Parts: sequence; C-alpha cells; structure tokens
Amino acid sequence: MPQTIAVIDFGSQYTQVIARRIRECQVYSKIYHYSTPAEQLRADGVVGIILSGGPSSVFSPKAPMPDQALFTLGVPVLGICYGIQLMGRLLGGKVAKSDHREYGHGTLTIRKPGRLFARLPKKLKVWNSHGDRLIKLPPGFTAIGTTDNSEFAVIEDLKRNFYGIQFHPEVFHTERGVDVVRNFLVGVCRARQDWTTADFIRKSVADIRAVVGKSRVLLGLSGGVDSSVAAALIHKAIGRQLTCVFVDNGLLREGERAQVESLYARNFKIDVRVVDASALFLRRLKGVTDPEQKRKIIGRTFVEVFEKSLKSIGGASFLAQGTLYPDVIESVAIGNNPAALIKSHHNVGGLPERMKLKLLEPLRELFKDEVRAVGSAVGLPREVVWRQPFPGPGLGVRVIGEITRESLAVLRQADAILQHEMMESGWYWKVWQSFAVFLPVKSVGVVGDERNYAYVIGLRIVESIDAMTADWTRLPYDLLQRISSRITNEVRDVSRVVLDVSSKPPATIEWE
Ligand code: XMP
Repeated sequence: MPQTIAVIDFGSQYTQVIARRIRECQVYSKIYHYSTPAEQLRADGVVGIILSGGPSSVFSPKAPMPDQALFTLGVPVLGICYGIQLMGRLLGGKVAKSDHREYGHGTLTIRKPGRLFARLPKKLKVWNSHGDRLIKLPPGFTAIGTTDNSEFAVIEDLKRNFYGIQFHPEVFHTERGVDVVRNFLVGVCRARQDWTTADFIRKSVADIRAVVGKSRVLLGLSGGVDSSVAAALIHKAIGRQLTCVFVDNGLLREGERAQVESLYARNFKIDVRVVDASALFLRRLKGVTDPEQKRKIIGRTFVEVFEKSLKSIGGASFLAQGTLYPDVIESVAIGNNPAALIKSHHNVGGLPERMKLKLLEPLRELFKDEVRAVGSAVGLPREVVWRQPFPGPGLGVRVIGEITRESLAVLRQADAILQHEMMESGWYWKVWQSFAVFLPVKSVGVVGDERNYAYVIGLRIVESIDAMTADWTRLPYDLLQRISSRITNEVRDVSRVVLDVSSKPPATIEWE
C-alpha cells in the first residue's frame, strides 16, 4: 500500500484540490470526513494530516469539529485556513471573530523558512479567503511568517510537528504553493513519493487478477474517458476474460460506433459486443419533446437494453465501472461547496444487485487527471484520453424538441464539420466542449437564385474547469467563418448558423 496523507474535510471548496496537489507530489492522499475517528486514521497508517479550510467560523455552534485525538497520533499536522483556526482554538491559542472575509491576494513575508518554507523566496504572493483569524499562539508554537493582515500567517511547533497556514497553498494563485505542500509531505512527514502512474498500473493489474481469478468481467463501454481507461486497464490484467458491451442508441455522433469497433476490437483485441438498439430508442422517443422526459426514456431504455445484453452474454461474476474518486468521496456539504454537489453515478439502475454481479471499479481511487495519465500509459490515443465530455443521452439532448432520423442526420453532419475544424485548428484540445445543436426552426436563405427555407444550427463552444461554471470561447472570426460556411454549404437543410454567447450560469452548457 502507498503511504497515505489524510486530508480532513471541513467543507472547503478546495478540499479536492489539496488532495490533488499532494498526489502531484507523487504521494497518495485520501479525503476523510471531519468526524472520522482518529483511530481510523491510525488504522489506515496515515503518515501526515492536513486540516482543510472551510466556510464555517470556529465560533459557530455548528462549526465542524474533528476528533481531537488526532493531535495525539504522533503524526505531523498541517492546518490550512479554517484548519489553523481550529488548531488555535483546540490547542490553547486565541482566535478573533471577524465580520468580513479577507479575500484575494496578499504578500507573505517569511522570517524563518523552517521546514515548510525551505528553499523558497522570503516574499511570496499568496491567496487568502478567511473570516476569523488567529490572534494569540497556542503554547509551543512560534510564528514564522506574516502578511499585512495577519501576524500569524504561518506558525509551527517543531517539537510536535504541528504547522498552520492562514492562506491557501493549494490554489493556483498562491506562488510556489505546491512547493510548500511538498515541503510538508517530504520534509516534514517523510512520506514516500511512490504514487506514480507506473506503480498504480502495476498494483492495479495485480489486484484485478487476484480479485477476478478465472471469472468473467462485463463492462459497459461508452467510448468516454473513464469507461475506456477502465476497459484498457482491465484488459491488460485479464485479456479475453473481459467482455465489453457498447450500446448504439441511435443518438451517437458521426462515425462514433465505427471508431469504437476499430480501436477496441481491432487495435486492442478487446472482446466488444456492439448492440444496435437504435430503432428501439427512436421508436420510444417518437413525438416526445420535453427534455426531462427524453432523458428518462433514454436512461430507462439504456438500462433495459444493457441488462438484456449482459444476460445474453451470461456467465460473468463481475460488472466493471469507470467510477472515479470524486464520485465516492463523501463530501461535506457546507455553504455552496461545489464538491458536495457531485453526484454518484454508481450502479446503473441497481443492475449489479439485480444480476448478482460484484462490482469492479479499478479507477475509484483516481482523479480525472490521473485517469488520463493511466490511459496514456496503457496506450490509448490522445483522441480518447483527452476526449471532450459527451452526455449520456447523446444527441438526444442536442436535437431540440422532437428527435427524428432526419434531424439527427442534419445534426451529425454539422457536428462532424465543427469537430473536424476544431481538431484541424487545434482548438478542440483547448476548450471544454464544442458541439452543434439542432434547432427545429426554419429560416429563409438563398442558394444560387433560389430561396431556401431550412433549419438553424447553433454552435456551443465553452471553456470550463469542472462544468459547474462555463464561459463561451472567443474563437477566431476566420475559424468561425470557415465552420459556418462549410455547414451552410455542405449540409442540405441548413440555411443559418448561430453562435451561442451565453455563459453558465445563467445558461447551461447543453441546450436541454
Ligand atoms: P449542463 O448542460 O448541465 O452540463 O451545463 C454540464 C456537463 O454535463 C454534461 N451533461 C450530461 N452528462 N448526462 C450526462 O452524462 C446528462 O443527462 C447530461 N446533461 C449534461 C454536459 O455535456 C456538460 O459537460
């Protein structure tokens, strides 16, 4: 097992960022709910503890409090923001209540680098976001860094190996923040830097073999990053004992099914069964215009078709899923912490229980960027590893209103042109998503000498970090012009192309 650094979550929107920064230093980190008993941390063999920030005030009666026994485990503790205030409060210092938050950039001056700021400049730009602050040190601590607003911006107790930082080293806006984190992990906790992609793959392949034995594993392949990486990894471990099922729901993009067949079946020699259920999906969607109803029909039909195809394959003991770490973290929901909103995609319609299949989730310890690294290392091409997200209901939520074969065909053609131009220009890799939307509105155009009464295609191209918020991408005009004229010239039944310039919020990324 890799050595573990525990990140104790007090509801900060940055908790997952801390865990990722630690892993970027090649040290394994795990997020724990703030109420986790210290004994659990001891049993897990954690070699260091980070107390996250959080939106609460330590003075609030509802302030999340950790098990104080964690200060007696004998492992180093670093408190960040709310974490430093907690340490101040619980270890005998004094915290002052404040009615307003100190938010944004500040300058940190380091008086004595100690272990935390070893080999770092004496002045650093740092990012603050806190209300309360420490005004009297707990016994045993000394202050080694100050900001304009805080005499105790960095504190340490070298004897007990306790440290506190008032600002956020984990965010991008803090200069050399990751070096501060690394100094804590390596310089203070003496953690082994053994969390590497190669180590993960080796361990994971061995684990999968041990768990699966001679049984068969089924996996629903969508072509997205997570299921693709899970398939490639499991295949590396057990080869033909893995069978993948790819459902063609009739709502796929141009060439998508052929790509899946050629990449996985031909290149990787994975046993992929393509189930063509497009007629069933389109029949059930006939006449349906309400977006939520469309989603429900597509979701329900998928589970039904998937279950039937798994049954027809038969003889398997495991169902594999590309569940990621953010799906399994029990995030603390305080304020508007976006991490707490991430829903679990677990157990497609309760299928594993119904079919008495055990779950195999080889990516459940990984963040998305780590999944991509594993994908590249097992030989998946860039087009898969860095593929843009595509919604489960597919083009079903990109044809506005009723879905027909004709509207799908128009949308597919327009979308293929958009994707081609985005790839050719390199913009595909720079944006979060780029796709076409079919609008069931006809407008007048003119082709040659004739009037042409045809449909409208919307272009949706956005930048985002996590899909919670998004902004429209300022593509160069000549690229937009090329996309637009190719669509109106090459796709019959389209007379007009419009660009969506809405941000999220108030709009959403998809149109339905
Ligand atoms: P919205 O439209 O809510 O989209 O801003 C946020 C992200 O989620 C994707 N999305 C979906 N993914 N099933 C999915 O698997 C869905 O029903 C669905 N709706 C939206 C969307 O593409 C974007 O990345």
